[in-house]
Amino acid sequence: MKRFLSFVATVLLFAGCQHPGTEPGDTEMDTYISDLMSKMTTQEKIGQLNLVTPGGGILTGSVVSTDVEQKIKTGQVGGIFGVYGPEKTRQAQRLAVEESRLGIPMIFGSDVIHGYKTTFPLPIGLSCTWDMELIKQTASVAAKEATADGIFWNFSPMVDVSRDPRWGRISEGAGEDPFLGSEIARAMVEGYQQKDLRDPTTMLATVKHFALYGAPEAGRDYNTVDMSHLRMFNDYFPPYKAAIEAGVGSVMTSFNDVYGVPASGNKWLLTTILRDMWGFDGFVVSDYTSVNEMIAHGLGDLQQVSAMALKAGLDMDMVGEGFLTTLTQSLEEGMVSEEEINKACRRILEAKYKLGLFQDPYLYFNADRPATDILTPVHRQLARQAAARSMVLLKNDEQLLPLKKSGNIALVGPLVDSRNNMLGTWAPTGEARYAVTVLEGFNNVLGDQVKILHAKGANICNDPDFAKKINVFGPKIFIDERSPEALLKEAISVARRADVIIAVVGEATEMSGESSSRTDISLPMSQKRLLRELGKTGKPLVVVNMSGRPMAIGEEVELADALLQMWHAGVEGGNALADVLFGDYNPSGKLTATFPVNVGQVPIYYSIRNTGRPQGSDEFQKFKSNYLDAPNSPLFPFGYGLSYTSFEYKDLILDKPTLTNLDEIKVSVSVTNSGDYDGEEVVQLYVRDMVASITPPMRLLKGFNKVFIPKGDTKEVTFTIRAQDLAFYHPDLSFYAEPGEFKVFVGGNSNASLSASFTLE
Ligand code: BGC
Repeated sequence: MKRFLSFVATVLLFAGCQHPGTEPGDTEMDTYISDLMSKMTTQEKIGQLNLVTPGGGILTGSVVSTDVEQKIKTGQVGGIFGVYGPEKTRQAQRLAVEESRLGIPMIFGSDVIHGYKTTFPLPIGLSCTWDMELIKQTASVAAKEATADGIFWNFSPMVDVSRDPRWGRISEGAGEDPFLGSEIARAMVEGYQQKDLRDPTTMLATVKHFALYGAPEAGRDYNTVDMSHLRMFNDYFPPYKAAIEAGVGSVMTSFNDVYGVPASGNKWLLTTILRDMWGFDGFVVSDYTSVNEMIAHGLGDLQQVSAMALKAGLDMDMVGEGFLTTLTQSLEEGMVSEEEINKACRRILEAKYKLGLFQDPYLYFNADRPATDILTPVHRQLARQAAARSMVLLKNDEQLLPLKKSGNIALVGPLVDSRNNMLGTWAPTGEARYAVTVLEGFNNVLGDQVKILHAKGANICNDPDFAKKINVFGPKIFIDERSPEALLKEAISVARRADVIIAVVGEATEMSGESSSRTDISLPMSQKRLLRELGKTGKPLVVVNMSGRPMAIGEEVELADALLQMWHAGVEGGNALADVLFGDYNPSGKLTATFPVNVGQVPIYYSIRNTGRPQGSDEFQKFKSNYLDAPNSPLFPFGYGLSYTSFEYKDLILDKPTLTNLDEIKVSVSVTNSGDYDGEEVVQLYVRDMVASITPPMRLLKGFNKVFIPKGDTKEVTFTIRAQDLAFYHPDLSFYAEPGEFKVFVGGNSNASLSASFTLE
């Protein structure tokens, strides 16, 4: 049986690797490229491996490309990013097509991480929708807008699994779980690339950052990664692999090292895993100057590290120009071969061919499109829906929410009227001026029905040195001229006059994201103080946490009567928040990354192993695996999220007691909406392998289904489990399920208790 399942896995693995629009071995493409390459000098081939940025977008390193125009004309540039708009991109393309010797078009890239101009919620927020169709739609809207602006190669999706909220880039991914992460990776690739890359409204996607970027030691960005093969293959690799199976066109390496070799020069990652094992046939691009950074990693000079990267399987060098400046010499000295350069060059030309650039290098530069395709009302409506659906209701004592659209409301906090903090990190193409603030959203949704009393209450933080670090891309933390005491006093006086207080607190956008790791993931003291004082007024208190990461907000949970995790919700964030708080949308988001009690619990995730000394309950027990000063349980578990209604689960039924590798088990459960509102529930299926040859996780997500259930109604939700769904990687990297007993749990979060068992024969 083992062999059968491994075989099934292998067939499935390779079956999904075709790129839309081009069959493998497409002779027309091969002939075209062979013919073109026969005319290219070695220097021109190396030129194709060079990716430049003249510095138009966000710069994430200290270097920018120079003499770009001259380099394009002399065939030294294969791709470019940070240039926007059909005119500018057309001009740049013209230099390549009309002024370089062979006229090879360039590929135009950008980071379109959560929307282009219509900025959607942060990816971590989007993941909390558990709605693959919606996520796919946001990706296709992003592609439509970006291509209208001349960008057709996207540095997204970012699928790095992360279990460490200290790491700022947890905001850019889909959280901690490989199964959900894989579904999202697929949805995004399909949304960006659709069926035909030559369609000028679709774009080539890049899965990043390969690999394991989300597990840096101590949560510090760019830091060392070292983990077992078992963990890599079972927990961290699946979303990258899923993107490849979905036909992603390119892969971006990560900054970190893996087992002592930086990803950009790691042959095991880039060739053995990516190409030989997973059958990837697109091209691999480095991260921003990550080839050069191998010098600082301690692996040699620029010539050595560039040769190492090419030999490892890297095709395109982002910004650093190590390839451009050293590969000719390395070829002469026998450090690299002509064949290695040819391979990389061919892969990049193939991507250009698949994008239709050799038929029409100006395909994506249509000056009429921005006006009709960017920031349309339909796109904004989707952003509003996505934002509302990404919010996660964490507490709602005595059904305080939804609020009535009447009376007086105190709307306080530093993020109520803060346009610059609405979009979230890594939105380099978004523009804050298009964002709806919370205050505006409330006015839009409530009109004159409610009296809104607004006060800032506190600065995001009071420390100017900290603010300076956050404000590198523009003002995000604005320290008020008024003293903290004066801000507080105003807020308290406003709160006293209100029927209910809504406090919007959290992080400035750049407190999460790249190079924004934190060792303290609680609210800054200025905001804590505000909430404490608001709590003392005795008025009902709704806390809205706007952040890019799970936060340790235990004290705030205690202080609040209701708590909503908003994330950074994008251009329509303000409207969407009002939709949720006033009941126009009943929240359905579920956490995709565990919220810890404190930073000491990190890394934290639901799919833990039992250990030999499990704690059993949350009571401290000597010589058990627990802490003296904190529980093992998180503040909020993976999969958690409330609704204004309630859902009851019963009748968990398996259609048979045993499973073989030729059939499947149907798991059904009935879910009743037993509350007072229509609502959606993310029904989650977890499986535990009771006995295995390696310590099995206590439970693993194996299915989910988001269903709408009108109040009073019951829906039967069905899942299918096949033997291959139970397979896992073994120490020798074979992939198969082991026979024996399995326990199934179904419910509304990862602590689901309704269970049943079956046996795999
Ligand atoms: C980031 C990448 C990004 C690249 C280009 C880097 O700093 O790590 O995610 O795609 O910059 O902007």
